Amino acid sequence: MHAHIVLLPGDGIGPEVIAAARQVLDAVAARFGHTWDFATHPIGGAAVNAQGEPLPPATLEACRAADAVLLGAVGGPRWDSLPPQQRPEKGLLALRRGLGTFANLRPVTVWPPLADRSPLKPDRVQGVDFVVVRELTGGIYFGPRHEADDRGEAWDTMRYTVPEVERIARLAADLARQRRGHLVSVDKANVLASSRLWRRVVSRVLAAEYPEVHLEHRLVDAMAMDLLRRPAAFDVVLTANMFGDILTDEAAALTGSLGTLPSASLGAARNRHGHPRGLYEPIHGSAPDIAGQGLANPSAAILSAALLLRHSLGLEAEARAVEQAVLATWQAGCFTADLAARPEDACSTAAFTRRVVAALAR
Ligand code: IPM
Ligand code: MN
Repeated sequence: MHAHIVLLPGDGIGPEVIAAARQVLDAVAARFGHTWDFATHPIGGAAVNAQGEPLPPATLEACRAADAVLLGAVGGPRWDSLPPQQRPEKGLLALRRGLGTFANLRPVTVWPPLADRSPLKPDRVQGVDFVVVRELTGGIYFGPRHEADDRGEAWDTMRYTVPEVERIARLAADLARQRRGHLVSVDKANVLASSRLWRRVVSRVLAAEYPEVHLEHRLVDAMAMDLLRRPAAFDVVLTANMFGDILTDEAAALTGSLGTLPSASLGAARNRHGHPRGLYEPIHGSAPDIAGQGLANPSAAILSAALLLRHSLGLEAEARAVEQAVLATWQAGCFTADLAARPEDACSTAAFTRRVVAALAR
């Protein structure tokens, strides 16, 4: 196969982890006989510095023409005082919206070698394997808003429409059907009108179209607690944009580090191979405090590349090979600074990546 992949390194540790993921994709190409061409474009603070805006039109155009897009991270203190429209985060939100990637899949897996790195007891995180389906182009991130004015007032609006909830409910239910058939939908229906709509629509779609999927509703505060009490109980978790943002940082902590969780953002658009033209990114941020020091954990970016192979290119065996190579690297005791038992034992970003590439070559 030949694929055209756009790389958006972004800010902070973004460029380091994207360089690592690219090496891994090259190793996949060599082993399985594929070819990729990569095009790199600016986004976030890097784009603000170079071109004065966080999502230059040429970057969005390039992403639209790609088979898949792999993004590092955006943001940092350097750009925190910019006006809202120029903030690096605004570039990422505009990209998600511009690509129509309404569904963000965040698989949460506590790989066996990580179980004793978790802040929870190992027996509690053993077997944790669920996917959060986060609605990504609606809700409070995109509703009407009002920046702080002279009277000292500012507001945001959480808004959902029936079609927005229907399409994400179907996607999550399809996924549950392929997995263990269990779906938990998370909302705040005891307080929020948009959550009451959400709950009603999810119930209707599931009852009418997915009778074989077991559906439960959970309030977001109770879910925050259950993620710590019984994380192994979940299969597919469906939730709104902001709840999903918050719960997946919590879920990432189960694995011992925010640096291990990948994500895939999918929409209706198809690429030249007939698969979804996805946007793939680690769920971690730009971590400016550790950028450029070889401390970054590239596993979330590498595992995001695996999701790219699976969802946008239909290359399941290749995706699994990457996941197994990361697992083998951890099994061999190679942990980056965020996961290492003692700092002096840590693998650098480059050393970790070399191990993954070597495991793939075997
Ligand atoms: C994430 C990030 C983003 C989000 C930020 C950088 C805009 O936290 O992908 O989880 O809130 O969606
Ligand atoms: Mn987040």
